[in-house]
Amino acid sequence: MKVLVTGGAGLIGSHTVDLALEHGHEVRIIDSLQPRVHPRGKPEWVPGEAEFVQGDVADREDMSRALEGMEAVFHLAAYQDYMPDFSRFIQTNTESTALLFELIVSDRRRYPVRKIVFASSQAVCGEGCYLCPSCAGGIIPPSIEEQLTHTAHHLLCYPGKRYSSSDLPPHAIHVPRARTIDHLLHGDWEMHCPACGEYMRPLLIDEDTISPGTTYGISKYAIELLADRLGRRYSIPTVCMRYTYVQGPRNSFFNAYSGIARRFALRILHGLPPVIYEDGRQLRDYVNVQDVARANLLVLEDSRADFKVFNVGGGRAVSVSDFARIMLESFASELEPEVPGEFRVGDTRHTVSDISELRALGWEPIITVEQNVTEYVAWMREQRGTKEYLEEAERVMRELGVVRRVRAG
Ligand SMILES: NC(=O)c1ccc[n+]([C@@H]2O[C@H](COP(=O)([O-])OP(=O)(O)OC[C@H]3O[C@@H](n4cnc5c(N)ncnc54)[C@H](O)[C@@H]3O)[C@@H](O)[C@H]2O)c1
Repeated sequence: MKVLVTGGAGLIGSHTVDLALEHGHEVRIIDSLQPRVHPRGKPEWVPGEAEFVQGDVADREDMSRALEGMEAVFHLAAYQDYMPDFSRFIQTNTESTALLFELIVSDRRRYPVRKIVFASSQAVCGEGCYLCPSCAGGIIPPSIEEQLTHTAHHLLCYPGKRYSSSDLPPHAIHVPRARTIDHLLHGDWEMHCPACGEYMRPLLIDEDTISPGTTYGISKYAIELLADRLGRRYSIPTVCMRYTYVQGPRNSFFNAYSGIARRFALRILHGLPPVIYEDGRQLRDYVNVQDVARANLLVLEDSRADFKVFNVGGGRAVSVSDFARIMLESFASELEPEVPGEFRVGDTRHTVSDISELRALGWEPIITVEQNVTEYVAWMREQRGTKEYLEEAERVMRELGVVRRVRAG
């Protein structure tokens, strides 16, 4: 197939391009080489076999040029950041999605697209899903690690992924709003029940959980709605992929958003301890970018995925502290992580997704977090000029009040 990959110079895009070429597809990329992600211009990993169009996905002319003759699209380009430029999330992420449909519908011969895979995000689920043991009359769910096994699903007595068992009163299941700044300033990290105020326990997040808490999350949920409604109306099969924490080589170390691996690795590489936000007990399901690329190709090529939304996660819960330890081990570093009582406004507490829907199509995350970190560290060591970017992103976030410190006393 002739496949367009938007954002094909980026982390997920470039690995998806490589795999699409391996699968025998003809690939065209459109990427604006956004300076925050690619301050040094077009990265050397963009393969010569793929046609490259430098352009903006929200620009009609650029998109029209890129889309001409394409039979499938991976729409992966996005604005993703912690910065308060809210309109840009909507313009780059959501408006470009509407534009994509607009062009295809305007001339089906010129733009013969038969399928679109969209990058959504776990951010659509906001804080995720919790059980309040107090509201549940004392029922305590198994740990997240146990919930990731089928036995524990059975233990909880909910069929697969809907928490509707008579053992679990529906009013005890909550999809809470973000924690208040006041709670965070007091170092009160865990989620409180919106009904009774007691502490809650995290549940796996399934695809029915929808509660975006940021403009980024809202822009992604709008993509899912457009993909479903316009896709069905115009018979263009779509699939939305809710990636969790994607890690691996080519994860831009320039961009503040690019996350934990970059933040920790840059510091350790330059002899500084990794700085952990909150208390380090936050759980996440990190997933390797090659596993993500395999998921992307699978849903493109398998019509059972049409018009569905899938979680794409690692299938294992790892705390932020454990992630720091794994990275220190990978560097063979004797440094100790620092926990200075800082937090980042907009971060979620526990985010571990239920990946059973994608597993049912035959996908499995196969690269462990340890391998993932080792690969990233090896790649990071080969990069030049990393020092100049070391603290810049965090300085900017501090200035904008995104990173804050717990109040003394
Ligand atoms: N990496 C993650 O952990 C993660 C998690 C959830 C969702 N996602 C989503 O997956 C997709 C890919 O993310 P990534 O991690 O590869 O990001 P990335 O920053 O590495 O890549 C994004 C690419 O898009 C390009 N781009 C940005 N704005 C553009 C525009 N207006 N026009 C054309 N190109 C533009 C950038 O230059 C970059 O090459 C995004 O949609 C992102 O929201 C990523």
